[in-house]
Amino acid sequence: MATDLRVNIDSRPKTKACYESLLELIPGGVNSPVRAFKALGILPVIVERGEGDRVYDLDGNEYLDFCGSWGPLIHGHAHPQIGQAAKEAVDKGTTFGITCSAEEKLARLIVSLIPSIDKVRFVSSGTEATMSAARLARGYTGRDLIVKFAGNYHGHADFFLIQAGSGVFNLTLSSTSAGIPQDVIRNTACLPYNDVEATRAFLEDPQNCKRVAAVILEPIAGNMGCVQATLPFLKMLREVTQKIGAVLIFDEVISGFRVGVDGAQGLTGIVPDMTCLGKIIGGGFPVAAFGGKKEIMDCLAPLGSVYQAGTLSGNPVAMAAGYQAVSMLTAEGFYEELERKTNVITEPVKNAIRDKEINACLQQVGSMFTLFFGRRSVSNMEEAKGLNFAQFADFFRYMLSHGVYIPPFQQEAWFVSTAHKQESLERTRDLILGYLATS
Ligand SMILES: Cc1ncc(COP(=O)(O)O)c(C=O)c1O
Repeated sequence: MATDLRVNIDSRPKTKACYESLLELIPGGVNSPVRAFKALGILPVIVERGEGDRVYDLDGNEYLDFCGSWGPLIHGHAHPQIGQAAKEAVDKGTTFGITCSAEEKLARLIVSLIPSIDKVRFVSSGTEATMSAARLARGYTGRDLIVKFAGNYHGHADFFLIQAGSGVFNLTLSSTSAGIPQDVIRNTACLPYNDVEATRAFLEDPQNCKRVAAVILEPIAGNMGCVQATLPFLKMLREVTQKIGAVLIFDEVISGFRVGVDGAQGLTGIVPDMTCLGKIIGGGFPVAAFGGKKEIMDCLAPLGSVYQAGTLSGNPVAMAAGYQAVSMLTAEGFYEELERKTNVITEPVKNAIRDKEINACLQQVGSMFTLFFGRRSVSNMEEAKGLNFAQFADFFRYMLSHGVYIPPFQQEAWFVSTAHKQESLERTRDLILGYLATS
């Protein structure tokens, strides 16, 4: 095992050869765009294996990993107990398309841990969870309009790939992807995150209030970097959605089980009608879920008229791994210890930014955080536009060449796992402090 974490990132011959081959076979060489490092001008990393707090690339380089597969790996890579649970399940058969008891175990665990979820349904990706939750909200309310917020990401269903133009009241919506029909765009509204007055005005407008099926948001955004919804914003959303008869959906695909066993809703005390989960609940396997009030969930087929299905939904191997992963979160002091580990990096970095008056900020909730360059705080997408992206690219290169893999885009969250060792955290802290001192 390599001990010197310095990596010559410009000389990775096996990675280069594999990537060149991938480019011929897969569009952009990747199965999810951000993995291509497009804005960074660096050959992407191609992983061979992971263990604990690190990953190893095709050329044998070792990196401390703070991306954690974008959130799922709260217990680190290749956790033995999760692996064991999955292996035992594999030996009994990998998929049946018939209900298995592992679904009951994970469902009961989730329902017992998140009080707002009376019933849950499993799917295979966060995109499926949010898409299905929105359809269910539309079926339940008999309305069409979905309200979302700029800078929040809810997967890639057509009606979520919508962004606002300038000015809330002059909503010139456009899609963030080609291939989205105008009819779909018309049925989504995209409002400014954390803007209490503009959002209230939109939702209470007599033209809108009877059209809104659901308001969906990341109560702790990970997808514009780590940005928390303010309590007044969440309170207003809860109050107004109740008043106008719309479904409030918390997309906790990242924050669920990341910031506590009952997610952002546990931290804030604001209770949504529905919750979307993903990432952590699969223990590294493709599992996501949506759940909520019984009266809403019972509108799903076969009980109700809202159709939703999946060949691999509730997959026995994924359920077993997920059950193991989620069970381990209930250990006494789990989240306190995770936050203590995270603070090894974040506290000194926050102090350095403050003391040296660096034009940057570190925003954190528990074990997720983002180091932003070029702003002293970020609370919405408008502010995020003022970030220094060139500096981030420079920082990313510096971290990667010192053997630390962070999310390859500034507006993403870093994730700390229980597998992160004290020395790994200290090393990462020192690297960041070193960078800030010279920048
Ligand atoms: C908050 C949130 N919702 C939904 C999704 C979509 O999940 P998936 O990538 O599993 O489709 C993501 C993905 O990162 C997410 O962060």
